[in-house]
Amino acid sequence: MELDLKGLNKDALKFKEIEKNREKIIHGSSANAIPTQFRANELAHLFHPQKQFVKVLDIIEENKKTKTFVLVPDIDQKTKRLAYFQPGQCISIQVFIEDGIYKRPYSISCSPKQVLDNNMYTITIQRKPNGIVSNYFLDHVKIDDKFEISGPFGEFTYEPLRDAKNIIAIVGESGITPILSMAEAIYDGILNCKLTILYGVEKEENILFYKRLEELKNKCHFIQVEYLVSDESKSYYEQFSKDLIDPYLENENSFFVSGPLEMYDYVNTLLKDYHLPKKYIRHDAFFGTVDIRGNDLYQVTVVIKEKEITIPCRARETLLCAMEKHGITTQSHCHVGECGYCRSKLIEGTVKTFNDSIRASDKEFKYIHPCSSFPESDVTIELPF
Ligand code: FES
Repeated sequence: MELDLKGLNKDALKFKEIEKNREKIIHGSSANAIPTQFRANELAHLFHPQKQFVKVLDIIEENKKTKTFVLVPDIDQKTKRLAYFQPGQCISIQVFIEDGIYKRPYSISCSPKQVLDNNMYTITIQRKPNGIVSNYFLDHVKIDDKFEISGPFGEFTYEPLRDAKNIIAIVGESGITPILSMAEAIYDGILNCKLTILYGVEKEENILFYKRLEELKNKCHFIQVEYLVSDESKSYYEQFSKDLIDPYLENENSFFVSGPLEMYDYVNTLLKDYHLPKKYIRHDAFFGTVDIRGNDLYQVTVVIKEKEITIPCRARETLLCAMEKHGITTQSHCHVGECGYCRSKLIEGTVKTFNDSIRASDKEFKYIHPCSSFPESDVTIELPF
């Protein structure tokens, strides 16, 4: 068989010309310096900044134990525009309290339109027993105070390719904040879905944003709101029932559940009756049932690069919380074991964890999320630096 070498010869000739062609291109190119800034990078930074700097523009008292903080860019720190967010997302705020450095996530309660039009976020914070950061905000933060915050993050958002167009939000207490943001976005034409909010509270005076929710309901026929208040016979969440939900159901429905931990078990059992695909039940920061009561004191050794620091940690305290108290910073966002930002290696000891979202390979190689891990013995962990 004779080989056809014609094509091969042509390639060899082209190859011989490569050097000459390359020289030609180099000499013909612009003498301008190669750009160090690219539009794509600028956009990525605008949409997903690692950090943003904000100051408090206004503080609105919602009720005796809840305030809304209006945050705008801190131009002195070179934040000019706040990043856009999806309704339902959070930001994590860093605060210095005594010797500790704490970060906590808070849902953004306004419409994304507020970022576009007014370059601002609002977060609504409620007093909590042992809520170090929440209580600090309510008691000490004033207008013009400045903070470092993260870019918006979180998956508790409406995604038209995944979620049904009819949303039933089952909400308890201050869990209303991400849902209000969704309602505002529907009203502004940013989200295209229907929303029924079943909103429960312990006492009537705990209802947040009543006036605004009523306005949205009256002005926009895609939004419905029902209120439930605990009474002597039943807590508000025990009043969520099929009878209450069924009139709002359509062919396909997504449930968005947002509220305090105590209502989750009840609501999840209720929703089992609907035999829904898993994707149709969404939880805001779901972390199952936690029952850590011990007061035992353990020693936690934290390895940062080559350095080791040993700190005390109670059995009922997360490793991340103990680190924050002692001024040890690590990257963190969600604080419920979901985002993976605080992922660290467990070198020694055992922990109890309340979130099973750790990847199988991480479990195998003993990685943990300190934000959702409680010590069961003395522990050594290595931070991801
Ligand atoms: S902060 Fe998100 S997993 Fe720990």
